[in-house]
Amino acid sequence: VTSAVNDALIERGEYDHFMLKEIHEQSESLARSIMPYINQATQTVSVPEAAETLFADADRAVAIACGTAFYAAFTAKYWFEQIARLAFEPDIASEFRYRRPVLPQKGFSLFVSQSGETADTLAALRYCRENRTPAIAVVNVPESSIAREAASIVPTHAGPEIGVASTKAFTAQLSVLAVLALSAAKARGHLLPGDEMNYVRSLLALPRKVTEALECAGQVREIARHIAGKRDVLFLGRGRYYPLALEGALKLKEVSYIHAEGYAAGELKHGPIALIEKGLPVVVVAPKDELFEKTISNVEEVRARGAEIILISDAAGIKAAGKRADHVILLPDGDDISLPILSAVPLQLLAYYVALTRGTDVDQPRNLAKSVTVE
Ligand code: AGP
Repeated sequence: VTSAVNDALIERGEYDHFMLKEIHEQSESLARSIMPYINQATQTVSVPEAAETLFADADRAVAIACGTAFYAAFTAKYWFEQIARLAFEPDIASEFRYRRPVLPQKGFSLFVSQSGETADTLAALRYCRENRTPAIAVVNVPESSIAREAASIVPTHAGPEIGVASTKAFTAQLSVLAVLALSAAKARGHLLPGDEMNYVRSLLALPRKVTEALECAGQVREIARHIAGKRDVLFLGRGRYYPLALEGALKLKEVSYIHAEGYAAGELKHGPIALIEKGLPVVVVAPKDELFEKTISNVEEVRARGAEIILISDAAGIKAAGKRADHVILLPDGDDISLPILSAVPLQLLAYYVALTRGTDVDQPRNLAKSVTVE
């Protein structure tokens, strides 16, 4: 990120808040984060060699982070498992570092951190280094402590993120993690050249698709006005969208102070469905995929009990959902890598506009720091 771009990114410009500016910057921040890892001539992915050499013989990987960065690592689990066929275990740093965890015999550790200074994540990295497990760091600050102590740095290039609530750093982390998963899949013989080219095209189209996804802002602002008066909100997702439900709930909590919870849609009947009552907003992150029908049956279960459904989906999903949602937020078409990344946009906008309606301090929410450098 050149110094001129850097300076421009630190100004709020015409936006009322840094968070809104950074949500709208995601087309550029994604382009900056993806391009260094794409060989345009061959339409292939290319990651730092120090990372690539760890993939071929790995039998397992652990991925450590906190907060939103953890939800990025959790999303990557679906990509590493399903595309690269690698056991990939995301873990919360503050839990991992104290458990004396069993580390991969033939594998690696991966750390995701916007600041590169989060104390628990850094401590977890040191535990891995002490036990001779090589560490890959996906950080937004290449000269940070986590970057300095990792065996391989795979930077995001989101630029400075001023809003305490992470938005463009999150989607930048997802895009870099997706590139790493594709590189691992290739190194492990699970990615055909044609499939690699399709995924690369999908990643190259992301900046344009984020601009399309942002077109829901006016509609989300209307929905947010309604949500702002609620006491609780439930976020549901399945498979690769479950971590997005968790992230959507965190965004809403941390900027609007409304209690929100993300849940695996399949878990509803194991308890949380007792929470459902008339008027409870349930945000469902469900573009049409192999699990969509199961999620829609969950939607019917909660709707029958009075929940108010906000469905975030693509055109095929919205068509299939019919009249079973009270509000539908349209995502552009995409694939199993681009749609989880695009799903973040309406979730970020919802949190922002609910906070705006409630008059909370959007850029500096109470009790929060941008980087948790103490335990
Ligand atoms: C994100 O919205 C939060 N402010 C917070 O959870 C953050 O993601 C977490 O503290 C991790 O920070 P890092 O990415 O700098 O390590």
